[in-house]
Amino acid sequence: MIVHLCDPTHMLRESEREAEKVLVRESPSRGRNSPHVAGFYHTKTGSISYIVWDPVTRMAAIVDPVLDFDEKCGTITGAFADNLLNFAQERGLQLTWILDTHPHADHFSAASYLKRITAVPMAIGRRVIDIQTTWKHIYAMPEFKNDGSQWDRLFDDNDEFKIGTLIARVVDSPGHTLASITYVIGDAAFTHDTLFMPDSGSARCDFPGGDARALYRTIQTILSFPDDTRLFAGHDYRPNGRAALWESTPVIQRAENRHAHRSLSEQDFISLRTNRDSTLPLPGLMLFALQVNIQGGKLPTSDQLGRAFLKFPIHDLTYRATEEP
Ligand SMILES: [Fe+2]
Repeated sequence: MIVHLCDPTHMLRESEREAEKVLVRESPSRGRNSPHVAGFYHTKTGSISYIVWDPVTRMAAIVDPVLDFDEKCGTITGAFADNLLNFAQERGLQLTWILDTHPHADHFSAASYLKRITAVPMAIGRRVIDIQTTWKHIYAMPEFKNDGSQWDRLFDDNDEFKIGTLIARVVDSPGHTLASITYVIGDAAFTHDTLFMPDSGSARCDFPGGDARALYRTIQTILSFPDDTRLFAGHDYRPNGRAALWESTPVIQRAENRHAHRSLSEQDFISLRTNRDSTLPLPGLMLFALQVNIQGGKLPTSDQLGRAFLKFPIHDLTYRATEEP
């Protein structure tokens, strides 16, 4: 007898329907050394994935791609990520990088999914190794290689790489996580979970390795970018039901974001951020997602019967880096 707890074809149809409605908004190149950027809004997690490209050579990178995961049925699909591939194909773009800004706690990364299809290299910040080490112990995965070898390149602060004729620069951006980085590509900066739109403030810092003081300093670095830099956020939770937005500038942030206002001292920011974090529940997908995202989005291997499993810890999650299990 075959028992379907969830009808997998129904779930696939659901996620495909969702993917068909994806909001895509473009931010055109402003000329020389200025990329064209398209943002794709993932409604379920309030995340934005990006394609950024050089209008001269049409070489492109994907930033923070999302993989669809339904935790109720254990269904994983690439329907949303396929939108990025279809877009790239329709525009005649040649993908050269799949970039993550940090290991995400609220959604699965589609980096490995996209690499499997495109053979394009994946990259992230080098300090992902520290996050791997923490979560390796939390998940009790002694065989897991916490050396960053799951990615093709690990970036250090100030590293540069090319997307066609554009120079991309890496800026260490700790605070939300200790491995967070910003990609500065021409006049565009992908800040992910640092500053959100001005009405949403800044990212939480209470995950292992998060640090409000470090986040304040990272925000100051981002605000010191040229005034007209296009800042692209990684999330938008649409406060008061407004339309999803994700692009701002340092000038807008300084004027309108109370977490980035020039009158806010470091100590005041730390109090503001810490008080807010103490009220937030953990992201619903965190314990599902991190075991996948510390492996670049690689899913668990299936057994001979085609069954694959995620681990879900139910013990005390307190972990000190000096402790060995
Ligand atoms: Fe995050």
